Amino acid sequence: MCGVVAVLGKRNASHLVIEGLKKLEYRGYDSAGIASVSQGLLQKIKSEGKLVNLINKLDRSTKDKLYFDNSIALGHTRWATHGNISLENAHPLTSYNKIAVVHNGIIENYQILKEDLISLGYNFKSQTDTEVLPHLFMKYINLGNDLLDAGRLVLKEIKGAFAFVAMSVDFPDQLFVSRNSSPLAIGLGDKANFVGSDAHSIDHLTQRIIYLEDGDHALVKINNINIFDKNYKKVKRKIINIQAEIGLVTKGGYKHFMEKEIFEQPVVLPQTTSSFVRNNSEITIDLDKLGFKNKKSLIICAAGTSYYAGMIGKYWIEQIADIPVTVDLASEYRYRKPSIFGQSSMLVISQSGESLDTLMALRYGKELGLKTNAIINVEGSTIDREVDYSLYTRVGPEIGVASTKSFTSQLVILFIIAACLGKKFNNLKTLQIQKKCHYMNMLPNAIVKMLELESQIKIIAQNIKNSKSVIFLGRGLLYPLALEGALKLKEISYIHAEGFAAGEMKHGPIALIEDDVPVIMFLLSDGNEDKSISNLQEAYSRGAKIILIADKKCIVKASFAHLKVEIPHFENEFQSLLSPILMSIPAQLLAYYVAKERGTDVDQPRNLAKSVTVE
Ligand code: M6R
Repeated sequence: MCGVVAVLGKRNASHLVIEGLKKLEYRGYDSAGIASVSQGLLQKIKSEGKLVNLINKLDRSTKDKLYFDNSIALGHTRWATHGNISLENAHPLTSYNKIAVVHNGIIENYQILKEDLISLGYNFKSQTDTEVLPHLFMKYINLGNDLLDAGRLVLKEIKGAFAFVAMSVDFPDQLFVSRNSSPLAIGLGDKANFVGSDAHSIDHLTQRIIYLEDGDHALVKINNINIFDKNYKKVKRKIINIQAEIGLVTKGGYKHFMEKEIFEQPVVLPQTTSSFVRNNSEITIDLDKLGFKNKKSLIICAAGTSYYAGMIGKYWIEQIADIPVTVDLASEYRYRKPSIFGQSSMLVISQSGESLDTLMALRYGKELGLKTNAIINVEGSTIDREVDYSLYTRVGPEIGVASTKSFTSQLVILFIIAACLGKKFNNLKTLQIQKKCHYMNMLPNAIVKMLELESQIKIIAQNIKNSKSVIFLGRGLLYPLALEGALKLKEISYIHAEGFAAGEMKHGPIALIEDDVPVIMFLLSDGNEDKSISNLQEAYSRGAKIILIADKKCIVKASFAHLKVEIPHFENEFQSLLSPILMSIPAQLLAYYVAKERGTDVDQPRNLAKSVTVE
């Protein structure tokens, strides 16, 4: 989603901004732009599409000496919300070529503000909500305010979730920044300061970071930064030393980040496990911190893939610990009146730690008096900073928009939580706990074996690459995985795909079956496999192309399937308990190879963002 970077006090600021924007590319965007003040004039360049288009334009203007020197610049990658993808709508948005603003989020009351500004003679060139910001700044600066006071007056007028940076030719050594719900970090340099949507976007410039808190605004100058809270009280925010520059994460020889992230799962998942399992046998999660002093039920909130991880978590926690779990889409939870009867604790799941829907659900949970916990990958993210207790997946940056290693690592933590709760509330014996820890240790090798299915999955990918629609089926622990498999396929290959609980087919979805529609089922012999095979048979009889990814026993039973992938042999209990993690691998590989066959932009699929910071 939109990314913001600003540099103040360094020569060639616009090029440094571009370096920062490159690090935000993974979030997903459809246009980009930068603005700087050079020789008292505001210069701006924008382009549609990828950053490389902007860089080419910038290089040409540098040659033309348009951009020979500047020490203040801001830049933006835009993920369109209000207004189509166009140069006019790309940021920075300006007012009379004197004020430039880059913005992430949505100004919800922009329509009324726009009408007021138009009546005052301001001319709007874009369809964006953002354009009210530079014009409001202009209005207040024209009334004699300095940048700080103008910014404060702007904040009084706007509503919504936002993070923005404003710059004016009249104050060429200052940036005004503010955040409300959307993330924003300030970087401290030597006679220079920086602003970015996250710490990573400016870690090539500094390792000293301040995260603004909600409602904060700040005036950033070359030698000092003054931060104020929502009551205009000057505040000090903690300076955090982030790890030395991790620079641009590389693909490590793979064609796409997604491919790399799939194949590195055996290596990174032990990093997840090791934070919560000691001596290979002892779980170190603090249940009191999780809000489980007594047996209570749990509410899990998340979005997208993280939500499906939550669904699997529910199955595990109920099965292993006998604790009731409710799973809610974060975007729904906040806007209904959920009952917290019997609950003491909320668990949110978010790879980025920035999904606004999830953040809002978390805040709502707090308001309702719940103890809040989060499974997150990005330390220092907004959710990490606001939640009572964070459990880190520690799988390193995930760059591909499609979640892969973050999903399996979330599952690892959920499984460990289930075991831990099982010990306290469901009489799980030490030996049983040790076995579960042992299963975690077995996972990397098992995933290596699952990855060896690659060539067989490629054949299936070839087979379905031209399908208009694909159906995924699963039952029990593999039902949420069917949903995840469908999400993965649709988001990167753009093929319409839906996941269903196998038993639900006959209640409606079976109407979708026609000749040659691929129906993909993940199946393991768990005692219920015959039921699922019957569901498959029903689809087969109606002409569907049946694709079965299953263990040997199921493959033999469902010999009618058109295409079969037999998964390697694993110990029974390990295989059935950890089936969602094992079967994630073929689901991810399938989506990846279909997308590759179709030549789509695997890592940055159309319309999608890695970090979804609007509601
Ligand atoms: O960062 P989060 O885990 O909060 O993100 C939630 C979803 O936006 C995310 O899982 C999305 O569905 C992925 N693109 C799925 O691959």
